[in-house]
Amino acid sequence: EETLRDLADQRGVFMGTALASHRLGEAQYAETASAEFNSVTHENDLKWEAVQPQRGQYSWAGADRVVDFAEANGQDVHGHTLVWHSQLPSWVSGGGFTADELLAVMDDHISTTMGRYAGRIDTWDVVNEPIGDDARFRDSVFHRTLGEDFVAESLRMARAADPAAELYINDYSIDGVNAKSDAYYDLVVDLLDQGVPLDGIGFQSHLIVGQVPASMRQNIERFTDLGLKVRITELDIRMNVPASQADLERQADDYREVVTTCLEVDGCTGVTVWGVTDAYSWVPDHFDGQGAALPIDESYQPKPAYWAVHEALGGT
Ligand code: G3I
Repeated sequence: EETLRDLADQRGVFMGTALASHRLGEAQYAETASAEFNSVTHENDLKWEAVQPQRGQYSWAGADRVVDFAEANGQDVHGHTLVWHSQLPSWVSGGGFTADELLAVMDDHISTTMGRYAGRIDTWDVVNEPIGDDARFRDSVFHRTLGEDFVAESLRMARAADPAAELYINDYSIDGVNAKSDAYYDLVVDLLDQGVPLDGIGFQSHLIVGQVPASMRQNIERFTDLGLKVRITELDIRMNVPASQADLERQADDYREVVTTCLEVDGCTGVTVWGVTDAYSWVPDHFDGQGAALPIDESYQPKPAYWAVHEALGGT
């Protein structure tokens, strides 16, 4: 039987997963991650609080472990993430920096992190979640200190740090056409007009069973029509647990729809699911009573969603 990775390789797309460095010593986890996926994203190990917990004190152990694993297994790495309001150490969020100081802090973080992995990490979520659920810029130290320009500044710093890397903005709840994705559309049109370096947009796609937006294809296309790439960066589809068979079947249809939609649009380059196994998914920790959001269950058994993705990738 071909794995998801085999099928994705044959189609020239990526099929990715999120990895936690502290799980890589577990045989089933590592084997499943390398067999089923041709791309990986650090789930937490590359975030600001992990990489630079104190000013000027970089700590690469977890981030390196994931990159080394990917290289040993011939996988691509997608870099997540550089400028984000969350998992940001308090020396940044509460640092009281002037605009010039904050720009210097950002430039140091971006150039040091991207520089370390230049040639090993080719695509980056440079800015994560700059816009809130109300479709306006989210309050953060970056927005408060620099205004909306923090997005353009971050992207310019990233281009300078690694001119060969592809640069993305990434967010959730922008999978369909809605007020928040409209705000992103306006933002990226504006950035492109200003000549700001931006290669694509990441749709996280943290979805709820039965609620794949009907306008997802139209939404992907309006961004690719601008010449941008689109990636599905953090797909999972949660449900109430214990999962009913009906929900597992519905979830399979939902996964099939998301993967098929991406594959049908030129410029949608692939899909990453946000974890290897339901056993370690972020969902149960963050949503009471929900889970079972990934294609592979707690015992590393393929779910109906797995076979739906398999089929969508051309498996028989
Ligand atoms: O690092 C501490 C550790 O010291 C402590 O012992 C432990 C006890 O709970 O917590 C650890 O922090 C956890 C952290 O992950 C690192 O493992 C936090 O509690 C936990 O809340 C945190 O959750 C992560 C979440 O981002 C935080 O925002 C999830 O694992 C991760 O899957 C999730 O990923 C995000 C993407 O980066 C951006 N898009 C949304 C997505 C889902 O929220």
